[in-house]
Amino acid sequence: MTSNVQVNGSYWLQTAPGGAPRPALAEDLDVDVAVIGAGVAGLSTAWELARAGRSVAVLEAGRVAAGVTGHTSAKLTAQHTLVYDKLRRTRGPEGARLYARSQSEAIERAAGLVAELGIDCDWETRDAYTYVRDPGRVEEVRAEAAAAKEAGLPASFVTETGLPFPVAGAVRVTGQAQFHPLKYLRALAADLEAHGGRIFEDTVVQGLDEGEPCRVRTGAGATVTARDVVVATHYPIFDRALLFARLSPRRELVVAGTVEADRDVDGMYITPEENTRSVRTAPLDEAGRRLLVVTGEHFTPGTGDTRERFERLASWTDEHFPGVERTHAWATQDIDPTDTVPMAGPLHPGAHHTYVATGFGGWGLSGGIMAGRLLTAQITGEECAWSRLYDPRRLRTAVREAPALLKTQAEVARHFVGDRLRPAPPVDALPPGEGAVVRAGGDRLAVYRDEAGALHAVSPRCTHLGCLVDFNAAERAWECPCHGSRFDTDGKVLEGPATKPLEQRDI
Ligand SMILES: Cc1cc2nc3c(=O)[nH]c(=O)nc-3n(C[C@H](O)[C@H](O)[C@H](O)COP(=O)(O)OP(=O)(O)OC[C@H]3O[C@@H](n4cnc5c(N)ncnc54)[C@H](O)[C@@H]3O)c2cc1C
Ligand code: FES
Repeated sequence: MTSNVQVNGSYWLQTAPGGAPRPALAEDLDVDVAVIGAGVAGLSTAWELARAGRSVAVLEAGRVAAGVTGHTSAKLTAQHTLVYDKLRRTRGPEGARLYARSQSEAIERAAGLVAELGIDCDWETRDAYTYVRDPGRVEEVRAEAAAAKEAGLPASFVTETGLPFPVAGAVRVTGQAQFHPLKYLRALAADLEAHGGRIFEDTVVQGLDEGEPCRVRTGAGATVTARDVVVATHYPIFDRALLFARLSPRRELVVAGTVEADRDVDGMYITPEENTRSVRTAPLDEAGRRLLVVTGEHFTPGTGDTRERFERLASWTDEHFPGVERTHAWATQDIDPTDTVPMAGPLHPGAHHTYVATGFGGWGLSGGIMAGRLLTAQITGEECAWSRLYDPRRLRTAVREAPALLKTQAEVARHFVGDRLRPAPPVDALPPGEGAVVRAGGDRLAVYRDEAGALHAVSPRCTHLGCLVDFNAAERAWECPCHGSRFDTDGKVLEGPATKPLEQRDI
């Protein structure tokens, strides 16, 4: 289908000052800690470590905070949709309390840094709401309000919100925050460098030798020798503890547009209904107008028509916020852990000096800041009250994860086998701007026809673990449904866990 929604990129990335590129790592380096990935998790960890007196190098494949963190909706809240009622059942009341405290302290940490460093990042205190419109789900929301309160959050059940439509019920958590993530993280990166930390962009990590010390190898052939290594690449690029089996990628869409000041929704909202809808606003101009940011339509990357989904989200926005002038549309993805709780801690059961932060389940801003503090405590040998809660090695004891884990693995197996049986259209049938996995000379090729009619062919085998990629026409990218790797139309890695491009092919 054609779409009226033009996918033109993230508002945050387009409006933050101070984005001058940093050099790639060109020679070997020796540091205390190598941090792989400069999203909120990697940068927060590196910043904490530098403040704790460690020499730190951050190795980033692309640009600082230009991954998921640069495409988020940027709410900083300890209210994570409907997590607390589930947590009190799966982790007990103490687990739920630790979760609430660790996420709340992360937000306080960010607020403290904004004040200490004088960061101008459009910080605003707002109440966070999880709402439902279906009266049949009100009890779920009531239970969540009670669980969140019991976990220590300022939570209550309400029926009135600032949304321009009625809700059947909502959990409100007061005193949360929203901000401009790029303005915040670029300031954090600058401060990290001012304290001796080094950041290398355009530096793809491809190898890790664990030992004392560890060695991190980049695609360009440089080696970083470090006592400790933190893998903060969103989806971990190294899997030495079956993490892949416990993480599912979830892609989501965002549309944004201008609203007058008097139509501000005065809060941050999310609903699990309608395939998720999330709403917030951000300050836009001196006339007081606001940017309305609407998120939703989640799906497994590499499955189905994304243009249709953008249309649905844009129509929902037009229906509920008539007159909004749409200015931006973009998409990004996060990772759901099988048991809801992010993973931050040792990379695998035998790890002594390698760590990971991942599985933020749609809430990695507070989660990434929390992970920065947790990993820093572990690396510097301090106590952290929530280490056990977020320990990635918890599979050993968490038998209750088994059904979700099997489901995740069944999905991967279904894609690995089933996608190879998909009928492949003939290449001549591809219109400009479209891509598909086609058959050519007894082989399968991933072929994209550009607007000028030229064909771009690459291998459809994902370089991570070999699943077949599928084309996302709205974003003109190849996507892997197994663990969410993404590639551009010439095969270059846009998003891991793959670290190598799709092989170019002749057609
Ligand atoms: C639509 C949407 C809305 C969201 N809204 C919110 C919200 O309101 N609040 C909230 O708390 N959370 C939100 N989230 C979740 C949150 O944005 C993410 O959990 C968080 O940004 C993840 O941060 P990260 O540092 O793990 O990943 P990233 O920001 O992706 O950083 C990882 C970095 O690692 C780099 N990298 C990858 N591979 C390599 C390699 N081989 N070598 C070197 N570098 C590499 C990448 O280039 C990237 O820059 C949202 C998520 C989505 C999808
Ligand atoms: S992302 Fe794992 S096989 Fe493609």
